[in-house]
Amino acid sequence: MTKPIVTIDGPAGAGKSTVAKGVAERLGYIYIDTGAMYRAVAWKVIQEKIPISDHTRITALANRLDIRFEKIGSEQRIFADGEDVTEAIRTPEATRLSSPVSAIKGVRKRLVDLQRKMGEAGGVVMEGRDIGTVVFPHAEVKVFLTASATERARRRTEELREKGLDVDLDQIAEEISERDLRDSSRSEAPLKQAPDAVLIETDSLTLEQVIDAVIAVHDEKVSKINHEDDKE
Ligand code: DC
Repeated sequence: MTKPIVTIDGPAGAGKSTVAKGVAERLGYIYIDTGAMYRAVAWKVIQEKIPISDHTRITALANRLDIRFEKIGSEQRIFADGEDVTEAIRTPEATRLSSPVSAIKGVRKRLVDLQRKMGEAGGVVMEGRDIGTVVFPHAEVKVFLTASATERARRRTEELREKGLDVDLDQIAEEISERDLRDSSRSEAPLKQAPDAVLIETDSLTLEQVIDAVIAVHDEKVSKINHEDDKE
């Protein structure tokens, strides 16, 4: 068989990026962070000072924005119209704006098209909110990662502090719950677990244990598919 598509969805701060990167590395697959793509559009909206209510202009911007991932050394970097925006898309402003930007139908259509092109050949680990439900509903390996709201706020705070940002745990917790609510209640591709996704609750697991669990789901699925292929 061709290499499968691995989808990892879940709420903000569940550890999706770190886990997806680790899984992709172990399997020798390509890692694709779809949240970074919504953030890149948000970054450009800020640059062009477009009001968030102007969906027509934001959709036009998303349609013409050139978004690329490039692996430089062991690091994956993201470029928007040729500019390296890897760090710029992580500012609190871009983070906040990425959620309403991602709720715009035209933006989702464009990014989902791009994501399908990036992943259709298989051998990818793609993480986001709607990868197993909308982008690749027929993906072979689907995981839904989650953790309690307290644990997710704790992890996000730690991550930002490691980057040297001065952040407050309570404020991060509030922002996360606001984003969760918005991401799961929107009409366009809300965050939800695909019926055939394996749920992994990560509160009491180490990063290595979570990666192992995802790899186990992958291996089991691949061996099942190979077995079925043999029978034909
Ligand atoms: O995973 P993240 O925090 O980088 O995502 C940024 C925003 O983009 C978040 O508010 C949810 C949204 N998003 C989405 O709607 N669909 C995806 N596949 C990925 C992210």
